[in-house]
Amino acid sequence: MEIGRLNHVAIVVPDLVKAARIYRQILLAKVSDVQTLPEHGVQVVFVDLGNTKIELLQPYGTNSPVAKFLESHPQGGMHHVCYEVQNIFLARDHLVQNGARILGNGDPKIGAHGKPVLFLHPKDFCGTLIELEQI
Ligand code: CO
Repeated sequence: MEIGRLNHVAIVVPDLVKAARIYRQILLAKVSDVQTLPEHGVQVVFVDLGNTKIELLQPYGTNSPVAKFLESHPQGGMHHVCYEVQNIFLARDHLVQNGARILGNGDPKIGAHGKPVLFLHPKDFCGTLIELEQI
């Protein structure tokens, strides 16, 4: 189950409109419109870099999974990296066999791009939250 390409880097921000403007006007990047994903508790814009994407996220609703992160990083900060895998179930089994912890109940969920994803415990991966996405 080797990991594949870097699908995206996710950055949590306190003000999504402002963050989108910074990427669009100062970095001259291609930035999508704001999308609201109530089931994920976030609003997001995608920055298309050609070889990968940056996702800028801000909390949405009352139970956002990124609200706590923003509390401890009030200016925003890098939240996770997402690597592609061919088969998320084979990837999960391999990781669990090797002692890695999967967040949540261990079953893939449908992520922000409509594909199955898993999140891996940062303590098992060099202090970085990793998302795996089946492509
Ligand atoms: Co992600």
